[in-house]
Amino acid sequence: MIVDPLARGLAAGLRLGRIVDHCNETTPTVAGKCGRNAVFCCMAPNPVCNRHDQGRAGWLCGNPRIPKAAIGEGYIMAGMPPTLNQFIRARQEDYPEAIGEFSQVMNAIALGGKLISREINLAGLVDATGYTGRTNVQGEEVARLDEWSNDLLVDLLGETGCVCVMGSEEVEKPIVPPESASDGRYAVLFDPVDGSSNIDIAAPIGTIFSIQRRVTKSGLGHLEDLLQPGKNQAAAGYILYGSSTMFVYTTGRGVHAFTLDPTMGEFHVTTENLEFPEKSNVYSTNEGNAGTWLEPDVQWVEWIKQSDPGTDRPYSARYIGALVADFHRILLKGGIFAYPGNIASPNGKLRLLYECSPMAFIAEQAGGAATNGTKRILDIEPLELHERTPFYIGSSHEVELIGRFHAGEGPG
Ligand code: AHG
Ligand code: MN
Ligand code: MN
Repeated sequence: MIVDPLARGLAAGLRLGRIVDHCNETTPTVAGKCGRNAVFCCMAPNPVCNRHDQGRAGWLCGNPRIPKAAIGEGYIMAGMPPTLNQFIRARQEDYPEAIGEFSQVMNAIALGGKLISREINLAGLVDATGYTGRTNVQGEEVARLDEWSNDLLVDLLGETGCVCVMGSEEVEKPIVPPESASDGRYAVLFDPVDGSSNIDIAAPIGTIFSIQRRVTKSGLGHLEDLLQPGKNQAAAGYILYGSSTMFVYTTGRGVHAFTLDPTMGEFHVTTENLEFPEKSNVYSTNEGNAGTWLEPDVQWVEWIKQSDPGTDRPYSARYIGALVADFHRILLKGGIFAYPGNIASPNGKLRLLYECSPMAFIAEQAGGAATNGTKRILDIEPLELHERTPFYIGSSHEVELIGRFHAGEGPG
């Protein structure tokens, strides 16, 4: 059995090549040259343009998405789209101030995602299931995987030297990295495992992250670097551990999705510039709580369940119980996710800084919206690290609709 992923990829017919050039030829007369912005592999068996010579160098040729920065900088697989790392490096020139630090932070998170994904896939075989017996600052039971993933991300991000402070769902206070990171430009917040109750039943879970630029001038970071409104985020994203593992992120220039090839251990871009579909009549909420909700939310959910083909009612309900998975479905298929407040907890359950804000950034970048019922999530000035907020996120039309219920206007 071939265990080395590289050898396995080659055995499976994948070809490796060094990206050597952008081709300037407009006519495919010479082997290795083709149309606009093409790239070819000098080591591929037949380094010719796939677009003009079907079935050879595959995805590489003629595709303007091949990152210029990747040229001569490493090997990529013929037939596979760019990796997350190549994709980010290619966009680094959009952020001249970043000088590679941003890539290092993203790489650390992506590596964490791959390791968490592997752990989950082995689940009970490696003791990834079950609980530690401890409760966290939220008063919730800590799953083994929560703790393991938290420690992993703290270590990986701390080692980059680019992160001056971290905030995690699992840790009460700001997490200070080693002294060597004292000049790190970024503050990172994360929910290491979102949807923990799904771990033991092999259902989808996720990781959520938010990257802020530090506001303190130097030295190790502080709480104030973490307590920033979502609109300040440099980047945000999530990793979905579902039937495939996906990495989705934004830096404020569209939302991009990557799929993990577990045999090679690489995320490859699968969709650029994701956008919510125009219309959808799906709602995602824990309606079992409706008896404790406030009046506008009760009215909303009753309205969407009434039958009226003219307004696509009744809606369909979908609820996985992990924000990452529920949101990912809404992002791809449209609709709304809601976690309202209730009489006992007016701010609901979800946490502003490492659950709602990053998702809200992604939603807006994908043409959607996110509010607490009355206010844009990205405008909320946080006061506490683990602060909660009612949360409505999804297609703009659906988020506006629930806003009308909260404004006492009804469906309009
Ligand atoms: P976490 O596992 O990080 O504590 O988050 C769980 C959250 C979120 O993922 C999900 O949307 C919500 O809790 C589900 O809550 P209910 O079980 O109350 O529906
Ligand atoms: Mn969560
Ligand atoms: Mn969590």
